Amino acid sequence: MNTFKLFTFAFLLLVCNSQSIAQTATKTVWLDELDLSAATQGYGIPGKNKSLDGKAITIAGKTFERGFGTHAESSLLILLNGKASTFAAQVGIDDEIKGHEPAVEFKLVADGKNIWSSGIMRLGDAAKPCKVSLTGVQKLELVVTDGGNGNYYDHADWADARFEATGVTTFSTINPIPGIPYILTPPPSPLPKINSAAVFGVRPGSPFQFMVAATGDRPMKFSAKGLPKSLKIDAKTGLITGSISKSGTFNVALTATNAKGKATKNMRIVCGDKIALTPPMGWNSWNCFADQVSAEKVMRAADAMVKSGLVNHGWTYINIDDFWQNNRDSKDESIRGPFRDDVGNIIANSRFGDMKAVADYIHGLGLKAGLYSSPGPWTCGGCAGSYGYEKQDAQAYAGWGFDYLKYDWCSYGNVIDGLPDNDPYKVSSLSYKGGDELTTAIKPFQVMGDALKAQPRDIVYSLCQYGMSDVWKWGDAVGGSAWRTTNDITDTWTSVKNIALMQDPAAAWAKPGNWNDPDMLVLGTVGWGNPHPSKLRPDEQYLHFSLWCLFSSPLLIGCDMEKLDAFTLNLLSNDEVIAIDQDPLGKQATCLQTIGDVRVYVKELEDGSRAVGFCNFGLEIAELNYDDFSKLGIQGLTSVRDLWRQKDIASINSDKDALPLIIPAHGVVLYKFSPKK
Ligand code: GAL
Repeated sequence: MNTFKLFTFAFLLLVCNSQSIAQTATKTVWLDELDLSAATQGYGIPGKNKSLDGKAITIAGKTFERGFGTHAESSLLILLNGKASTFAAQVGIDDEIKGHEPAVEFKLVADGKNIWSSGIMRLGDAAKPCKVSLTGVQKLELVVTDGGNGNYYDHADWADARFEATGVTTFSTINPIPGIPYILTPPPSPLPKINSAAVFGVRPGSPFQFMVAATGDRPMKFSAKGLPKSLKIDAKTGLITGSISKSGTFNVALTATNAKGKATKNMRIVCGDKIALTPPMGWNSWNCFADQVSAEKVMRAADAMVKSGLVNHGWTYINIDDFWQNNRDSKDESIRGPFRDDVGNIIANSRFGDMKAVADYIHGLGLKAGLYSSPGPWTCGGCAGSYGYEKQDAQAYAGWGFDYLKYDWCSYGNVIDGLPDNDPYKVSSLSYKGGDELTTAIKPFQVMGDALKAQPRDIVYSLCQYGMSDVWKWGDAVGGSAWRTTNDITDTWTSVKNIALMQDPAAAWAKPGNWNDPDMLVLGTVGWGNPHPSKLRPDEQYLHFSLWCLFSSPLLIGCDMEKLDAFTLNLLSNDEVIAIDQDPLGKQATCLQTIGDVRVYVKELEDGSRAVGFCNFGLEIAELNYDDFSKLGIQGLTSVRDLWRQKDIASINSDKDALPLIIPAHGVVLYKFSPKK
């Protein structure tokens, strides 16, 4: 061998050797070195070497330099590809939430199997060491559950968390739910189509306002046969106004005509005690503007409701949430000032000024206007509430021309507990000490309910007390049109999932005029004053909207209406999906079957059909050959329509056929099953 060959041989030997060393060398890979942004969590953003609130990670007095601060329910999926031998960490609840009672459970799931659990951990528990072997594991999921008591203040830390890795220097993290938006709703046809609900309720003598919502090329001409004489329809806009003096039911045939054709639809006008015979649809300021709301922003949202075309799909209410009144604590001068005038009339803050002008503006667009208050002395945000002024406030709302009131418990807890009026806001007081629970819970809502009913105008009454004391059992009796069944929603999968899973117990109480309210929609640009695109993935948004429609929920858009993107607009303008929510029978879907992670929600419809949501709460695509139709109340020859795609997809004999279903992870297949005549 000459010198050159000898040199080449030695070099190759060296390369091979160093490669095999690299393949077997072990290295510590810290969890905080990975991309934590793939984590999904119940609140906030993942903390890299920081707690959820951005402080040093601290568990039971001990501080840790490294780790991942998160919030239950949390999931982080890491692709190990068999290259990690161990994972070790110290886990616990962060000290930063002293004064609350969080509980969580940390779990490790390796290739779908639970391999470690911390057990339930509470605030003050010393950090629990975790060390597991990971030989051969491909995917590891770090999970923090809510510990069984809801996820309030569940700030959880994976401290000092690290892997021993072989032959690699890092790992990738993934969010397994695809992030690219895709459009399902076909564009509306240029031909006229009437989309508004088929039933509308009004009280005798109240001003009547109903917009015939229709898609199709403009100009369009509207007419209505069978209207009571005291009502008239504006041929250009489709707005029906007037008032009906006596109770009764009127069957009306609506017509919309344009250059391309003509559409008709029958509707029932029911004049009686009940209003909101289908769930209210509209927009509310809270989920986007929170304490930054102003008359200008509200009027611009109303403009956008019309300009975006959403008005043609039945979206009607423009609701102002908290912060139209003056505030007790704020440093912002625009919301400081007297709460009431000398004779006790409520005063709007300077951002709003003339409330009648705001309501008039909204009505001028053919829309309706909503407002917010609390039965306690203060609203949840510390603005003036209605305590002691209920009648006067109801009169003010009616006088200004408002059509909707959200009435939010908050500081009423302090009234019962005898705490001073000016006790600072921390008052969602879900538990309170005073009196017989039910009487106490009902009373303030009864007082405002009576005051609203005494007004010469219909005001939809929306109770907001987070589902306490089984509100669905007595909400109707106090005059409520809808009532919240849950605490506040946020734009996270956990929040939407948990709210969805807790709706069934109240379902039997939903009926025309009375709706369970699982809180507002978290689609589009939301953010409670810090606007960002909803953190829900596209499939999660389809599931969220489908479920809210199956639940016959009030549909209140929570996003910035001026930032509606094509995907969100498409999601909010599918008339066949909306028709499920607005079905006149007014039943609420319940889960009739569970197959692995798939829950099958079924809603009976007035025409004898059933809307069925095959909802996949799992992380993997579900493929089913579904044939259990009798469980869903579906029998015989049935046609099947895909509501999102607005397409008939099959005609089956449900007694013997099967239907192949592919349901995206965290997604939905929403079908309507109609018996064939
Ligand atoms: C909460 C309520 C929210 C919003 C907020 C206003 O209690 O659930 O939807 O209205 O108060 O401060």
